[in-house]
Amino acid sequence: MGMSGKLMVGNWKMNGSLAANAPLLSDILNGMGDVNCRAAVCVPAPYLAQAQNLLAGSALDVGAQDVSAHESGAYTGDVSAAMLRDFAVRFAIVGHSERRQYHGETDAVVAHKAQRALAAGITPIVCVGESLAEREAGQTEAVVKRQLAAVIHTNGHCISEIVVAYEPVWAIGTGLTATPEQAQGVHAVLRAQLQAATAHADRVSILYGGSMNAANAVVLLAQPDVDGGLIGGASLKASDFLSMLKAASR
Ligand code: 13P
Repeated sequence: MGMSGKLMVGNWKMNGSLAANAPLLSDILNGMGDVNCRAAVCVPAPYLAQAQNLLAGSALDVGAQDVSAHESGAYTGDVSAAMLRDFAVRFAIVGHSERRQYHGETDAVVAHKAQRALAAGITPIVCVGESLAEREAGQTEAVVKRQLAAVIHTNGHCISEIVVAYEPVWAIGTGLTATPEQAQGVHAVLRAQLQAATAHADRVSILYGGSMNAANAVVLLAQPDVDGGLIGGASLKASDFLSMLKAASR
């Protein structure tokens, strides 16, 4: 079991607009009165300032979807951890499968991104997960352990400060969800790997992601090593996201 209290994080991916974000965020805030889990939204970088302004002083934290592996300099298009800090960013997703797949991010790059985030006081949400072919080949454990091992290797004793998200690639945006048993099985493997690296593995929240919705959140969140969720599509509708925050507040 990770840090007490669930952590629910919306990943907007490449969705939103100035006009649409404002009512979405205010509807979420207005519905959070009886929510007692930790919550954040990871918005596209151009909307960080808007999110910072609208969420200042609220119980909903601001997150980013990526961070540069470099500190500063000639890296056109990159956004540094220090820049994210300027917008009160608390969390940065690193190594999302869409970044690994479409931007060629390796385990080593992901590990350095996590390191940059930690150095700037931002909690990296490190994503790991197997493809369908890897699951069918019986490689799930080996894949997620390899992905997490790179981050442990690079970040040493700071590893207790990260958040891990288990996102089976075959469950992302597909409507296919890992069963609670499948999720718990992988989460337990990741917890054991963290325990071998730090005495504070119980502080690490391990989130599940992949077609999580208001209907399946309750049983997934009931698993002993599922400490929260990383939610894509269902975080784009205030009522759905709020249902999931409430499911995590029991
Ligand atoms: P969906 O919830 O849309 O399946 O996306 C999951 C995800 O990738 C969150 O990072």
